[in-house]
Amino acid sequence: MRPTSPRGVPEGPDGTLPQRGLRLWLGAPPAGAAHHRQADPDAEAGGQGPLRGGVDGEVEGRAGGRQGFIAADIKGTGSWTQLYLITDYHENGSLYDYLGSNTLDVRALLKLAYSSISGLCHLHTEIYGTQGKPAIAHRDLKSKNILVKKNGTCCIADLGLAVKFNSDTNEVDIPRNLRVGTKRYMPPEVLDETLNRNYFQSFMMADMYSLGLILWEMTRRCMVEDPQLPYYDLVPSDPSYEDMREVVCFKKQRPSFPNRWSSDECLRQVGKLMFECWAHNPASRLTALRVKKTLVKMLESQDIKL
Ligand SMILES: Nc1ncnc2c1ncn2[C@@H]1O[C@H](COP(=O)(O)OP(=O)(O)O)[C@@H](O)[C@H]1O
Ligand SMILES: [Mg+2]
Repeated sequence: MRPTSPRGVPEGPDGTLPQRGLRLWLGAPPAGAAHHRQADPDAEAGGQGPLRGGVDGEVEGRAGGRQGFIAADIKGTGSWTQLYLITDYHENGSLYDYLGSNTLDVRALLKLAYSSISGLCHLHTEIYGTQGKPAIAHRDLKSKNILVKKNGTCCIADLGLAVKFNSDTNEVDIPRNLRVGTKRYMPPEVLDETLNRNYFQSFMMADMYSLGLILWEMTRRCMVEDPQLPYYDLVPSDPSYEDMREVVCFKKQRPSFPNRWSSDECLRQVGKLMFECWAHNPASRLTALRVKKTLVKMLESQDIKL
């Protein structure tokens, strides 16, 4: 029998989970039909993440159930291996795709924001016990790595670069290369390589910076600003490390808030959240749990139930 991780996911020959394997989407249209992947000008840098064991593919918090991990399999001989992850197919595609063709009202914005942060909060939180999970940092959060379900909630996808914290040994699954992820979404400490890799919280704080940028992308679509990537007006379409370092680390610039956001109390509050997520000093950033709690209050005050 094939070795399995604690969650029953077959492991690769070296104990790794399927990361860059074939994906099968149940219910997906045939190849070449409705779903298409857009060319990604901001391709990921770096190699495979060292995530090992214990996580069942893509993750979502409790806001709306799981991403729909169905099965995993591995096939191969000594010289080649094929890894399969079978998940639900989400016809809305990524948040990036979704925001490109949909505008939002406050209710839709809060749903997307709350479900995204719930997913991230779940990822960051260690759960003890046989049904538990380690604390995981994503390291490549961006609107293209978040999927939108039919009911208008999000789930976090693409754990290919994730790292986990091993609380038994108090060790971070240390990545070989710290400058991984997508340059546009990299926080200052990753761009200038000052991130403290021995401290797991550092990776979670880095995720919170990227989450702030994603909140900005969502909120733009609420006041019907055109869909844009963060820093679209400050760096070229495929920015280099130098482009990003200049803007994010040296000039300490961040995406700007359209004036109209200040005229709506809800957008003003979401603006404050993103501002506190992308602080230059990682230790000053909000935690996922803090953002989640604030969004719960906002949902309640608008009488929105998920
Ligand atoms: N379950 C899914 N349902 C629908 N579209 C998906 C699903 N998973 C991924 N995609 C689409 O494929 C793209 C790439 O998937 P991702 O998991 O991020 O892999 P990669 O490692 O290639 O970046 C996503 O941006 C999204 O558009
Ligand atoms: Mg991806």
